[in-house]
Amino acid sequence: MVAEAIRKRVEKLREEIEYHNYRYYVLDQPEISDAQYDRLMRELQKLEEEHPELITPNSPTQRVGAPPLEEFEIVRHTIPMLSLANAFDETEARDFDKRVKKFLETSSEITYVAEPKLDGLAVELVYERGQFIVGSTRGDGVNGENITQNLRTIKTIPLQLIRKEVPVPERLEVRGEVIMQLDKFRALNRKREETGEPLFANPRNAAAGSVRQLDSKVTASRPLEIYCYGVGEVRGRTFKTHWEILQTFPKWGLRTNPHIRRCQNIDEVLEYYREMNEKRERLPYEIDGIVIKVDRIDLQMRLGEIARSPRWALAFKFKPKQETTRILKIIPQVGRTGAITPVAVMEPVKVGGVEVSRATLHNQDEIDRLDVRIGDTVIIQRAGDVIPEVVQVITSKRTGKEKRFEMPSKCPVCNADVIKEEAIHRCIGLDCPAQLKGRIKHFASKRAMDIEGLGVKLIDQLVDKGLVKDVADIYYLKKDHLIALERMADKSAQNIIDAIEASKTKPLSKFLFALGIRHVGETTAEDLARHFPRLDDFFRLSEEDLMQVEGIGPEVAASVHQFFRDKKNKESIERLKKAGVKVIEPKPREKGKLAGKTFVFTGALQSFGRDEARNLVESLGGLTASSVSKKVDYVVVGQDPGSKLDKAKELGIKILSEEEFKKMIS
Ligand code: IVH
Repeated sequence: MVAEAIRKRVEKLREEIEYHNYRYYVLDQPEISDAQYDRLMRELQKLEEEHPELITPNSPTQRVGAPPLEEFEIVRHTIPMLSLANAFDETEARDFDKRVKKFLETSSEITYVAEPKLDGLAVELVYERGQFIVGSTRGDGVNGENITQNLRTIKTIPLQLIRKEVPVPERLEVRGEVIMQLDKFRALNRKREETGEPLFANPRNAAAGSVRQLDSKVTASRPLEIYCYGVGEVRGRTFKTHWEILQTFPKWGLRTNPHIRRCQNIDEVLEYYREMNEKRERLPYEIDGIVIKVDRIDLQMRLGEIARSPRWALAFKFKPKQETTRILKIIPQVGRTGAITPVAVMEPVKVGGVEVSRATLHNQDEIDRLDVRIGDTVIIQRAGDVIPEVVQVITSKRTGKEKRFEMPSKCPVCNADVIKEEAIHRCIGLDCPAQLKGRIKHFASKRAMDIEGLGVKLIDQLVDKGLVKDVADIYYLKKDHLIALERMADKSAQNIIDAIEASKTKPLSKFLFALGIRHVGETTAEDLARHFPRLDDFFRLSEEDLMQVEGIGPEVAASVHQFFRDKKNKESIERLKKAGVKVIEPKPREKGKLAGKTFVFTGALQSFGRDEARNLVESLGGLTASSVSKKVDYVVVGQDPGSKLDKAKELGIKILSEEEFKKMIS
């Protein structure tokens, strides 16, 4: 039996942590420092380690770590999650207001709440006595999928409601939208591009795809957030108005959108619409309109619903950045990792002011889902500023002459076999010119070797003429080679030769990134370079050595290891060096007190959070590692050290107490 005092303390800690989460993630107004927050977390972790019977799925320590599922269970919504009727212009919005008044047999103005219509994924969160018990997707409105463990990983979703100010109801079903911010979405896609994974078409797909993962670790790694905008069933509390609901949410720790507004009549709503339409481009997330809701709940009840939409609410859409056009052909495009993307070539149209003639179809699964055929009339859209995509086929425009498209079984460029890995088709040709072109493009790109002027058209010619068979060949090009190419004047040839010359000296991190190693994006390259500052060492590092680097797992380690073991890659790097490519190796900061020393931390430190301690070491010129090996100089031991301490003893590595560590850095 756990002593009552401990149980109380655990509960208290969870409440505190939830409250500070809310201050930090929802209000963006933390009341305590990260170190103080870490201390609360550590105390809770420690108590839970000692008394595992006290662990509950809603403990803030349990956001990540649930085992992967086989499939999602079905959840039936107590109250169906309806959809919204749409309006596309002011007349239609005014018609809605007229309908409401007519139905209610009133001529008085109606008070509305106007909200951004967030472009994400609708979810329902069920809280019982303040505890988050089930979370689900909207599904078909009646039945959704149980995605509880994925939603638990989203920091803006409270695992238990705050009860400091307002009592929590017996049961509360909250509805909201899970979204991904645009910059986070772009960063995610950039990373996926670097690692050869298929890109998400838009933030909504990225959010939906991330939430519907069987392994919640994947969801946890995605930058998702929520805005709550309504309720389903509520037991043990009534609300008079929708505004009251939205005002109460934050008191329970539920995040609402900052742009919600109460409007006294339809004119104020239209004013809000114009304002939001103007603000839209500057918001950090995508919205596709506003939602108008009758404020008074009693009026909502009287209005009821029709055709699976409430009579009391309306989606007033912004003009879409969509257009209609025709698909002329579909071409399979081979990228640098061999991944093949089907691209639709279309009759050019202007979408949101930009002329578009190509759109991505992502992959075969997407083609099948949309049933896109060559010759089809389709709706395309530009989401954010990413590549346009085909969103829908207008099947009524079919003539019968449309042709289905199948991904090729041989690479369209090199004729090597194509294999299918999950949704991605991949060319496995070792000498595929398309892959080579992609690799060169990546190698020369701004964030890699930064060779100005070495663009797609030039790369195409260089590869097609056999002048460049490997990235190293770039540095053996002579001006005469270039002048012989199409539309290449003496001056431009010289400029390119100069740019190639100027790119020769690069920091190790850029060079590693430029090599295009699978799974090594910019950040990973930087981490690697910081940890292993000598290029030559990479030829000798084992997978285990590589996994020493914070954040590098087995998959990345295997990929790096394999890359440097490959004979062709070795030769290529040798030839790069011979041509004068110089890699600037980061020098261990000699001045730093801890220069050349590697630290590992285990157990809870009293005076610092983990990240804080790591930053300290690095700011003093030292390195940190996540696991103990012979290469580690010190293991700093806090309270409740893990197996790392045993390993350190086994290897005879110097062990420091927190006090000793503090002395060392002071
Ligand atoms: S209220 C009955 N409010 O729009 C009320 N929905 O077409 C139904 N949505 O599935 C929802 N922002 O995904 C509501 N502020 C907002 C919204 C919103 C986005 C989405 C939601 C829903 C769809 C309805």
